Amino acid sequence: MHMPAQRELRLARRMARLGTETAFEVLVRAKALEAKGRDIVHLEIGEPDFDTPHNIIDAGCDALHKGFTHYGPSAGLPQLRETIAQYVSETRRVDVSPDEVVVVPGGKPVIFFTILALADEGDEVIYPNPGFPIYESMINYVGAKAVPIRLREEMDFRLDVDELAGLISDRTRLIIVNSPQNPTGGVLTRDDLDQIARAIGDRNILVLSDEIYSRLIFEGEHHSIMSLDGMKERTILLDGFSKTYAMTGWRMGYGVMRADLAAHIARLMTNSSSCTASFSQIAGIEALRGPQDSVERMCAEFKKRRDVMVAGLNKIKGFSCRLPKGAFYVFPNITKTGWRSKKLADALLDDAGVAALSGTAFGDFGEGYLRFSVANSIENIAKALERVDAWTQKNL
Ligand SMILES: Cc1ncc(COP(=O)(O)O)c(C=O)c1O
Repeated sequence: MHMPAQRELRLARRMARLGTETAFEVLVRAKALEAKGRDIVHLEIGEPDFDTPHNIIDAGCDALHKGFTHYGPSAGLPQLRETIAQYVSETRRVDVSPDEVVVVPGGKPVIFFTILALADEGDEVIYPNPGFPIYESMINYVGAKAVPIRLREEMDFRLDVDELAGLISDRTRLIIVNSPQNPTGGVLTRDDLDQIARAIGDRNILVLSDEIYSRLIFEGEHHSIMSLDGMKERTILLDGFSKTYAMTGWRMGYGVMRADLAAHIARLMTNSSSCTASFSQIAGIEALRGPQDSVERMCAEFKKRRDVMVAGLNKIKGFSCRLPKGAFYVFPNITKTGWRSKKLADALLDDAGVAALSGTAFGDFGEGYLRFSVANSIENIAKALERVDAWTQKNL
């Protein structure tokens, strides 16, 4: 039978501006190598290697049996919005009401919806670079101008507020901050946040504060810009369940923001996912209200692994690595290897069987770095270190 030639795929122009998250692509490549019989140590993906705590799984199963298998309100179930409002009020020391909370399927949609709702073509959005790649991708996608604020190693990857102040213009609509930070593990201090708030002054600029790693902090405590005087109404707080409770596959996160904006974000939910899975939301109530010892255990374990990883990397030729203060990544400087980041990441995967990400997967200012996730066992981390060391001995 004669088959008609396949027609040209005519994509909307905006699709050319949409980026991606390389971690998922590297995972696919690593899996393909494994399928061919290679042994790969996975240090590429950003998810806890722990199981969701039992009490949360039980609550989710129970919810399924009790009929939480239907649509719910787009902004989230009232009982979860209430629980999140209480949790954020306590942890950020602000007064949050349930109508300021929108529950969404993961932390990512808060980024997607916030940028979609706030940034017009030509508006400027300042975002951390190196940083979570979805910020830049989404800013470009909506036709806004992505303005990077460079995070510098010599500042432990906190941002330089004077530099930030110099980037703010009349077109700045939104500033994205992320602490603890992916990919560097940098943590903003209370003083940094004060200065950021001062740099914004009384301009009509909103802050998207990505605090998805707020509970994974190794030294000191987490500070939120939302807690500062006058900043609550100007902050969109992003937090969620993926990292804190090892719930990446449950797809649950939330945004906290002024109620009028929350109503628009809920409308974006109505237009996209309709609502977050109802049984996941019931499990989320248990996550926030139930015992928290699993979070503390996981954080202590990440800290131990971080120490092993950083100490090990600092012994490897051409690598130097600062001690990250939060999240579960390390971000070594590899300039002294003489290799470009992407080439080195590819070589380590192909030749040494270690999956890591190029710093450039997080923006142009990630050149000169690699990101290793420590969401893997100490044994596997030790194995990865040995392999990278052996590779550098042979190739540098
Ligand atoms: C900084 C940052 N924000 C948001 C997310 C998204 O998390 P989720 O899986 O809940 O969508 C991630 C996940 O890697 C992240 O690193």
